[in-house]
Amino acid sequence: MIKKTILSGIQPSGNLCIGNYLGALKQWNQMQNDYESIFLVVDLHAITTNQVPADLRNRCLSFTAQYIACGINPEQSKIIIQSHVPQHAELMWVLSCLTYQGELSRMTQYKSKSKNLKNINAGLFTYPVLMAADILLYQADLVPVGSDQKQHLELSRDIANKFNLDFNSKNFLIAPEPLIQKNFARIMSLKDGNKKMSKSDPSELSRINLNDNVDEIFNKIKKAKTDTQPLPENENELASRPEAENLLGIYSSLNDQSIKNTINEFSGKNFSEFKEKLASLVVDKISPISSEIKKLLKDEKFIDEVLNNGAQKADKIASAKIKNLKKIIGL
Ligand code: TYM
Repeated sequence: MIKKTILSGIQPSGNLCIGNYLGALKQWNQMQNDYESIFLVVDLHAITTNQVPADLRNRCLSFTAQYIACGINPEQSKIIIQSHVPQHAELMWVLSCLTYQGELSRMTQYKSKSKNLKNINAGLFTYPVLMAADILLYQADLVPVGSDQKQHLELSRDIANKFNLDFNSKNFLIAPEPLIQKNFARIMSLKDGNKKMSKSDPSELSRINLNDNVDEIFNKIKKAKTDTQPLPENENELASRPEAENLLGIYSSLNDQSIKNTINEFSGKNFSEFKEKLASLVVDKISPISSEIKKLLKDEKFIDEVLNNGAQKADKIASAKIKNLKKIIGL
């Protein structure tokens, strides 16, 4: 039986955090046995904001190590640095000629990112088209992401459908299905329960990184924002208590249990007691990952092999797709 393909990616900016782990990597790990899997380190996306060249290059290697440490098996799944496969950028250009400016200006992530920047570059605006190219180049059926990427995926679907219609080439590009887990698809900042936890947030205290040590984890959870009430008695209370909801969500997600069960476990207790338990759980789950990251980073030759292998396999798929695409559009 032919397996369906899943594809996803993360920008190598900042440090991978538990938001990325719970929203993306944990799912990737669980799915890779059942699907042809492609996991990208999207360095071309990362240069939409200023990067120090040497740091960016190192981060690509480090993110590869972090994917593997989170359980991605490079013998089974393809791990690919986006810029190693030039066809991503080539397809992006073609797709950008089919994408309306109005659609791109409605992207909420563009609106919020551009609010904080002085010089908004064109790459930041057309960034979702590059994401569509990543997905459509490999005919991905499913794209597992956190809920913040849903709008970008809808755009990828629209672009695929428009291409097929305009060029009368039914199903040449496959409109991908988003795969957004139902629970905890959005982990929030430890400093503000209304703001997404982000690997590029300037405040280190806003997130737990996958390479944080035990002291850092305990300290960050201790300092995490909470309200003054004891932990809630039921789920209805969570609507007005975003920080409580987030911390309970992180606990539930790491422990693979429903938020209802977590509430039952801690209802009426105070935050200091819960935070101790949460910090221990985070350490239990994250420490093995961070020691594996350290080990892998010492073996640069292995990481290079993984990436060369990924690039070679990607090139086979990508060059065939671009060859056919050129025929279709008259290039
Ligand atoms: P990026 O790098 O911002 O995030 C990578 C993945 O992590 C998820 N995520 C979260 N999930 C839950 N809670 C959070 N706080 C949180 N923060 C991040 C994101 O939803 C995402 O799944 N444009 C994409 C990268 C990309 C891509 C692709 C994804 C480029 N090409 C093709 C899928 C397919 C991005 O910037 O993700």
